[in-house]
Amino acid sequence: MTNRVQIFDTTLRDGEQSPGATMTLKEKLEIATLLDEMGVDIIEAGFPIASEGDFEAVSKISAQTQNAVICGLSRANIADIDRCWDAVKHAKRPRIHTFIGTSPLHREFQVKLDKEAMAEKIHATVSHARNLCDNVQWSPMDATRTEDDYLARVCEIAIKAGATTINIPDTVGYTAPRESADIIRMLLERVPGMDEIVIATHCHNDLGMATANSLAAVEAGARQIECTINGLGERAGNTALEEVVMAMKVRHDIMPYDTGVDTRKIMAISRRVASVSGFAVQYNKAIVGKNAFAHESGIHQDGMLKHAGTFEIMSPEDVGLTESNLVMGKHSGRAALRSKLEALGFQLGDNQLNDVFVRFKALADRKKEIYDEDLLAMMADSTTSAGHDHIRVKFLRVICGTEAPQSADLTLTIDGTDHQITSQGDGPVDATFNAINKLFPHEAELQLYQVHAVTEGTDAQATVSVRMEEKGRIVTGQASETDTVVASAKAYVNALNKLVVRRTREVENAMEASAG
Ligand code: KIV
Ligand code: ZN
Repeated sequence: MTNRVQIFDTTLRDGEQSPGATMTLKEKLEIATLLDEMGVDIIEAGFPIASEGDFEAVSKISAQTQNAVICGLSRANIADIDRCWDAVKHAKRPRIHTFIGTSPLHREFQVKLDKEAMAEKIHATVSHARNLCDNVQWSPMDATRTEDDYLARVCEIAIKAGATTINIPDTVGYTAPRESADIIRMLLERVPGMDEIVIATHCHNDLGMATANSLAAVEAGARQIECTINGLGERAGNTALEEVVMAMKVRHDIMPYDTGVDTRKIMAISRRVASVSGFAVQYNKAIVGKNAFAHESGIHQDGMLKHAGTFEIMSPEDVGLTESNLVMGKHSGRAALRSKLEALGFQLGDNQLNDVFVRFKALADRKKEIYDEDLLAMMADSTTSAGHDHIRVKFLRVICGTEAPQSADLTLTIDGTDHQITSQGDGPVDATFNAINKLFPHEAELQLYQVHAVTEGTDAQATVSVRMEEKGRIVTGQASETDTVVASAKAYVNALNKLVVRRTREVENAMEASAG
C-alpha cells in the first residue's frame, strides 16, 4: 500500500446538491478547469440521469478535462448506468460510480429490497457498469449504519463483479473517528480482494467530524478521500478538501500521506466556489475563512512580528493567500487587472476582460482603494447578470429615515419595456421589494436576505444574497454595490431572473419528454 491519497472532488455533484447551490453550465465548466489545474485526481462532475442539464455538464466536463478522471453518479439500475456512461465515455479517463443504500433503514424504507434481492442487484449492476467501463466505483450508501456482516458481504460481491474502487459513505454524518477507522480495518480483514482495490471514504459533517473521520479512515487504509471545496454539500456539508489536504501537509510528521494537490490554488478556487454557489464562507472557517490568518490580539500580533511560527502553523502563501490584499486603484491598467483576476481564479477572454474593465473603472471612480474582495464581488455580479436578463433594475430612488412610511420609486425594464411604480414599505428594502413584486408578480417566497460588507469603511460595497422558493424551485441571487438598497434590488431581481430560466427550462423538458 502506498502513501499516496487520491483526492476525489464532488463539489459539482454532492456539493451542488445543497438546496440553492445550483450552478450554471458555464460555472461548472470553470470550476472543473480549476479543479483539474489544482491537481485533484478525480472530479465527480454530476448525476447524468438527474436532468438534461446534469447530463450536458458531465459530457462537456468529460470532453474538456485534461488530467483528472471524470466520474458520473448513477443509482443501481441499468438505465442510470447507461446514461452515466454516455456522459463520461468521451473523457480521457472515465469512471462510473454506482450506489445503493445498504443499511437496514435504507433497505426497508428507501430501496424496499431484502438482503438477498439487494445482493443480486449489486452483482448485476456493478457487472453491467464494468462491461462498459474499466474504472468502476461502487458505494454502499449509509455504510456506517450497515451491519458489519452485510457490509462485508456486499463489498465482496461488488469486488467480484469488477468494482475497482469501493467507497464507504458516512451518508448521514453519524460516525466518529475510531469507528470510521474500525470499519475500514474490518473490511480489509474480512473481504477477499479488499486490499487490491482502492478504498474510499466519503463523510458528511453533521456532527462536525467529517475531516477527522476521513483522516482516520486513511490511517486505517483508505486511499481516496471524497470531499468538496469549502465543505459545500447537503445539510452540514461534506468533508472540506482544503482541510484534509492541509492537515496531511502540515502534520506530515504524524500523517505521512501525499496528495497531488497544488495547495497554492486553494484560495482562488474557494472564492470562486463561494461566489458561484452563493454559499459564503464563514469568517472563522479553517484554512479559507477571512480570519483564518488574521491576528487581532496584541499578544498574537507581537509574537507574529518576532517570528511567524509563534502563532501560525502554515503560511498564508501555502494556500495561495497573497501578502497584501490592497490591490488596485483607478490608475491600474488592463494587464494588471487580468493578472490579478487570474490569481483570484478567473480566466477571461479578451472581450470579457474589456467588459469587466469598464465595470472596474466605474467602481474605481466610486472607491479609491479596490481590494481582492471588491473584485470578487464585482465578478460575482458580472457573472450573475450576464447581459441577457429578462428583468433589469433601471432606476431606483428611496425615501427613508425616521418618518414612516419609507417609499421606493422604481423603474424595471422587463423584456425591453420600462415599467415604473412607487411603493411603500417598512424600511427602504421592504418598500423596494414591494415595488418589484408589483411590477413582476410571482409566487416565490423570500427565504433568506443577507447583507455582507465586502471590506471595511463606510464606502465599502455591500454584497446582498437572497434565496427564494417557488413550488420547490429554490434560487439564489446576489449583487454588490456601494449602495445597499440598490444591491438589494439587484440581488432580488437576479434571483427572479433565475426563476424565469428555471420555469422555462422545466417547460422545455416537459415538451421534450412528451415529444419523445
Ligand atoms: O453521501 C452519500 O452516501 C453519497 C453517495 C451517493 C456516495 O453521496
Ligand atoms: Zn454524500
